Amino acid sequence: MSDNSVLFQPFSLGNLQLRNRIVMAPMTRNQSPANIPGDKSVEYYRKRAAGGVGLIVTEGTCVNHIAASGYPDVPYFHGEERLAGWKRVAEAVHAEGGKIAPQLWHCGGMRQAGTPPEGDVNGYTPSGMNVPGKIKRHIMSSGDISDVVQAFAQGAADAKSLGFDAVEIHGAHGYLIDQFFWEGTNQRDDGYGGSLIKRLRFAIEVIEAVRAEVGVDFPIILRWSQWKQQDFTARLVDTPAELEQFLLPLSDAGVDIFHCSQRRFWEPEFEGSGLNLAGWVRKITGKPAITVGSVGLNADFIPQPGETTFREAEPASLDELVRRMQDGEFDLVAVGRALIANPDWANLVKRNRSEELHAFEKGMLESLV
Ligand SMILES: Cc1cc2nc3c(=O)[nH]c(=O)nc-3n(C[C@H](O)[C@H](O)[C@H](O)COP(=O)(O)O)c2cc1C
Repeated sequence: MSDNSVLFQPFSLGNLQLRNRIVMAPMTRNQSPANIPGDKSVEYYRKRAAGGVGLIVTEGTCVNHIAASGYPDVPYFHGEERLAGWKRVAEAVHAEGGKIAPQLWHCGGMRQAGTPPEGDVNGYTPSGMNVPGKIKRHIMSSGDISDVVQAFAQGAADAKSLGFDAVEIHGAHGYLIDQFFWEGTNQRDDGYGGSLIKRLRFAIEVIEAVRAEVGVDFPIILRWSQWKQQDFTARLVDTPAELEQFLLPLSDAGVDIFHCSQRRFWEPEFEGSGLNLAGWVRKITGKPAITVGSVGLNADFIPQPGETTFREAEPASLDELVRRMQDGEFDLVAVGRALIANPDWANLVKRNRSEELHAFEKGMLESLV
């Protein structure tokens, strides 16, 4: 019988007290008609909390900006009915002993004009590009930048007043904030582009504006990734020294927890050390780090050439994860598809009943259960 107890140690950061180290990874489900999280969303998240997850990070939820969304039926984080829906979600999670943070999202150049309800509105980007070299999107003015910064701040203020426990800023996977980070899509020559430090400026303004709204005790999580949906091999930084230049200004701006997105958590980030991305982030910043990527599954989530949707995967051993956690490499671990397939994943793992875990199948994405 494996000893998974390290996953079930409580975690505490200021006012945020988690019963264990397991985080539900944010996963877009496209199941919110009129962009309202409805009864099905309430039940979906409630079940994962009842199944033992410590912290739920919701699917990406759009901040109040005309071009924040790029996909049908994603939930928004503004408007009376939508926020009322989110309040019910948070209450249901709390009633089961879980904690919850919304993932605030602006999809930037991933938006293609035509997505309802905003219709013709083009994607908003630092330099008109969703992929390097192709200028097809709207180039953000400084007025646009302040509007979006303000939209994130308002979202965070609402999260706090609705009773959420923390907020996650989506800075990963090639969406708007990451498009500012990434030289490939940020070719600005004003204060928001150029050197790495200048490419951080937009994110820093978002983080500082969020902090000004939520106060000192409300945790701010930043999700970020080297890889982009536009280019799985893209990297923001190539060495530990560059990583430090990237992280410390973000940390100083107010990030409390870094959520470090990898597709396979066991992969070392730099040559010469076994540490993964979260491991390096924790070492450099001294702040808590969340790891993610194929936890408990035998295949990563990204489609391979010829595949059109997220990959299916069978349950896999947790031994490597547990070993790294026991070594103190990272603090928290996010679980994605395994939690879609198994709402009670955390409880089954805790009780050493892993043989009861189901595989993740693509069909599971078609409905919210
Ligand atoms: C259906 C689906 C939707 C996703 N949507 C989001 C999202 O809204 N925001 C985000 O940061 N990551 C998103 N991801 C990435 C996951 O959060 C996670 O990083 C990824 O699935 C790897 O974890 P896993 O291997 O445990 O599934 C999504 C993944 C899946 C499978």
